[in-house]
Amino acid sequence: MAVTIKSEREIELMRKSCQILAQVHAKLGEAIRPGISTWEINDLGDKLIRSYGCVPNFLNYNGYPASICVSVNDEVVHGIPSRDRILQEGDIVSLDAGLIYKGYHSDAARTYPVGKVSSEAARLIEVTRQSFFEGIKYAKAGRHLHEISGAIDAYCTKHGYGVVRDLVGHGIGTSLHEEPQIPNFRQWRKGIKLRPGMTLAIEPMINMGGCNVEWLDDDWTVVTQDGSLSAHYENTVLITDGAPEILTLLPGQI
Ligand code: MF3
Ligand code: CO
Repeated sequence: MAVTIKSEREIELMRKSCQILAQVHAKLGEAIRPGISTWEINDLGDKLIRSYGCVPNFLNYNGYPASICVSVNDEVVHGIPSRDRILQEGDIVSLDAGLIYKGYHSDAARTYPVGKVSSEAARLIEVTRQSFFEGIKYAKAGRHLHEISGAIDAYCTKHGYGVVRDLVGHGIGTSLHEEPQIPNFRQWRKGIKLRPGMTLAIEPMINMGGCNVEWLDDDWTVVTQDGSLSAHYENTVLITDGAPEILTLLPGQI
């Protein structure tokens, strides 16, 4: 299927879906503390999503067994929540969540420190977040998709980090994953020309060490090959003629 351009009506529905998700994320962020299990985080997220009359889009997606992906330390993405996985002071934890509102999907991820973390871990989290903002400087009608990829890559590489290549961002709308794929690393091709009304989930996944990743036996959890820490930051954004609208941030969150 080709890249979709959303109508004004669809954009309104995307906005609403994404703003609900932003509120869910804000509440999940407040719940992060040493001693909480990754299952409790999932359970809270699932209940929050349903409290808005929405449906978690990750649950049962290709058989994924939970509503929120909770990835700790060297886990990059798609960590499966577990009652036995208890967050400890000094951990970093990535929460990836999404939901469906009146048929429209939203998708966003944040990495949080658990209690007090090392300055190196805090820096990884901040550089990963900032790399998204470096990327979306090019998320504008008339620019090319891979300008975003190149900007994310350049910024993270400058900081000595590994940019994950095996997973990418994506278009989003009436499906969680639409075209185009959005790599976070430099491409030789320019990629598609961006147009107003495109909605994109841009999601740098950044490792403190090398860029290589592998999958655990559960066939979901992605971990860094060298055991280094990894962070993830994702928002669903709307392309316009000017600055992109970051749909999954609350007013005042930038
Ligand atoms: N945010 C993830 C993505 O963009 C979605 C997780 S897929 C799931 O691909 F299966 F784990 F839900
Ligand atoms: Co995504």
